[in-house]
Amino acid sequence: MDTNRLLHLFEQHYGINQGEVRLFHAPGRVNLIGEHLDYNGGYVLPAALQIGTYLLIRSNADRMLRLASVQFEEAASFSIDELPTVKSDMWTDYPLGVVHEMNKAGHPITQGYDLLVAGNIPNGAGLSSSASLEVVIGYALLTLEGYPIDRTALARLSQRAENQFVGVNSGIMDQFAVSHGKQDHAILLDCDSLQYEHVPFQIQGYKLIIGNTNKRRGLVDSKYNERRTQCDEAVEKLKQVYPDLTYLAHLTSEQFQQAKHVLTDRVVCQRAEHVVFENERVKQSMKALREGDLLAFGQLMNASHESLRDLYEVSCEELDVMVQEARTVNGTIGSRMTGAGFGGCTVSLVAQAAVEDFVNTVGANYERHTGLKPDFYVCDVGDGVIELEWPAFIATDESI
Ligand code: GLA
Repeated sequence: MDTNRLLHLFEQHYGINQGEVRLFHAPGRVNLIGEHLDYNGGYVLPAALQIGTYLLIRSNADRMLRLASVQFEEAASFSIDELPTVKSDMWTDYPLGVVHEMNKAGHPITQGYDLLVAGNIPNGAGLSSSASLEVVIGYALLTLEGYPIDRTALARLSQRAENQFVGVNSGIMDQFAVSHGKQDHAILLDCDSLQYEHVPFQIQGYKLIIGNTNKRRGLVDSKYNERRTQCDEAVEKLKQVYPDLTYLAHLTSEQFQQAKHVLTDRVVCQRAEHVVFENERVKQSMKALREGDLLAFGQLMNASHESLRDLYEVSCEELDVMVQEARTVNGTIGSRMTGAGFGGCTVSLVAQAAVEDFVNTVGANYERHTGLKPDFYVCDVGDGVIELEWPAFIATDESI
């Protein structure tokens, strides 16, 4: 992304004046393993990407909050003394939600700002473009207002903006990964306590390839909320055996086996089984990564996909085809869907020497089966939200 060009666009849009334009960047994220565990109090293992959202921002003297985007045509401006309190179903809901939550947290904006955002995360692909936007706005406004920055508090504030203002009931994983990302490290996050650890993600000789199915994700919010309700129902039933249970992921697989007879609804039982075993897979993944056993990690990725497909039922034909095709490539050691599901992306761990073959073979076979043209990104793991110096350069993931 050419940040000088972004500066030029900013000045075209808002004019040139004495004020300093500052530049911020927040990444997207990929989840390596631990899917649909964040709202179940389990462990997740996401990593920040190098693709992300840039924000150019300058304070103004007229107490206006002006929002513009390179990707979206709609621009908006509001008096900071009369900010909307309900959403309008535009991209501007994300920044407004963050400002709203800053207010509620006792960190209001005290002056006006002109903002331009530009992103290279494909929208709606399950790589957290919305969390990236929320976190970059929150980080920049807190910085310019001189408020202290606590990255975990920023993640929670951004999550509240999404849950309460935008109205999507997501967990904490995305905003946390975008806030706390670290180059060449994955983040092991306990979503109950929010304790976390940066885990070196050493995959010498291998590459992470994200495959975008380009399948539009229909009804994802309602199906996501349905899964959450089913998990809550499972906890309620399991309290007959474990009265103090608060989250499904607190059960070991042995405890689950002993109690699952109370889950008489087959579907609810399957959802719970995914959560309990996926949580154990994250723990096993940590062991495998610490021991440098990438083959074992790849197998856990594969098992995660099977469970999301068969038990949690959040995969779809396009994701399954892409995963299946990925696994036929010599050099792929693991492949799974990533994110909420119902479309979006897969993540695969592939020997470096096989990357070209992977992209060509999976691309052609996927298109033949589904009629959709996929995109592939060969990824490195990047940093969390930061302020950049001018002239700024940030590596972007290679898109093929
Ligand atoms: C979406 C949500 C996250 C998480 C994942 C599934 O990305 O925003 O909170 O629940 O789905 O793991």
